[in-house]
Amino acid sequence: MKYITFGQDQDQVSEVILGTMNLSQLSTQEAESLLKDALEEGINFWDTADCYADGGSEERIGEVFAANPGLREKVFLQSKCGIRREDGVKFFDFSAEHILNAVDASLERLKTESLDCLLLHRPDVLMEPEEIADAFRILHKTGKVRNFGVSNMNPAMIRRLQKYTKYKLETNQIQISCAFSPVFDAALHVNMQTESGVMRDGGIMEYCAENDMALQAWSPLRYGFFEGIFLGNPKYQTLNRVLERIAEEQKVTPTAVALAWILRYPARMQAVIGTTKSSRMKESALASQVTLDRRQWYEIYQAAGNELP
Ligand SMILES: NC(=O)c1ccc[n+]([C@@H]2O[C@H](COP(=O)([O-])OP(=O)(O)OC[C@H]3O[C@@H](n4cnc5c(N)ncnc54)[C@H](OP(=O)(O)O)[C@@H]3O)[C@@H](O)[C@H]2O)c1
Repeated sequence: MKYITFGQDQDQVSEVILGTMNLSQLSTQEAESLLKDALEEGINFWDTADCYADGGSEERIGEVFAANPGLREKVFLQSKCGIRREDGVKFFDFSAEHILNAVDASLERLKTESLDCLLLHRPDVLMEPEEIADAFRILHKTGKVRNFGVSNMNPAMIRRLQKYTKYKLETNQIQISCAFSPVFDAALHVNMQTESGVMRDGGIMEYCAENDMALQAWSPLRYGFFEGIFLGNPKYQTLNRVLERIAEEQKVTPTAVALAWILRYPARMQAVIGTTKSSRMKESALASQVTLDRRQWYEIYQAAGNELP
């Protein structure tokens, strides 16, 4: 496993992150064995959020920590806040009051004293950066959160927030996969009058790389917005053929190649995998051993149905 340096204390964290959005589907015992297996593979960064299964993911992690003294210290733990549902209404809330309450509730569920990183989950267009900065200051001062970051934000939003908080925004977590790559489409079709040339994110990859923010890719095996997995999917026959061929050459599985495709971008990249199965988690960890060359990278991009100018 390769590691990147992350945050104010220069922690060494794995480039493959274990995402736990579906962890509550497992029993506590099953979750414990997945989390411990991940650590054995060198995956020392776990990602959760208060809204996953309505707190269920955090609860499962908390149960595993409670049953395994000493485990918490071995893991870099990241959670998120800001997505709310009340009386059937979904909304985003970056008010200081909500951020502070949300972190307290997360810490209680996770049975821990502090988060290693807190992400603002999805842009709240009503956000008031001064208020967020206040909340961050209190959370840091009280030792409840060590580092801060964002998710699904564009450069303008990050710049605006960064202007008010003294804590460096350490990461941006966004959706990227071989079959979901608008961030690369726009970069490859600059100034072209094609659909691919439409820049939807304001140059977020370049912005994060320039500002030394880690880029965390969520749903690295999905296409669309939670439409499905492209691996083994008849909709993506060409992509699967290419992934399988390269996997054979590299002596890994297509899963590892698909993740290596993300990690190949020359910035501080991390892939947030969401499997609940140890066998798939182990296949994924091998992505860290694969370095694709340019020809392979562009072949995969085109095999996913994309064109180059
Ligand atoms: N910041 C955000 O807005 C945001 C949004 C979504 C997710 N996330 C984070 O990203 C993490 C990963 O998201 P994700 O779960 O969508 O990622 P993913 O790793 O792309 O997808 C995981 C899903 O694919 C299945 N899968 C994996 N390999 C497969 C294969 N070979 N064939 C068939 N199915 C396969 C897994 O099922 P099994 O469990 O059966 O292996 C699981 O349901 C989440 O856990 C969460 O931490 C963040």
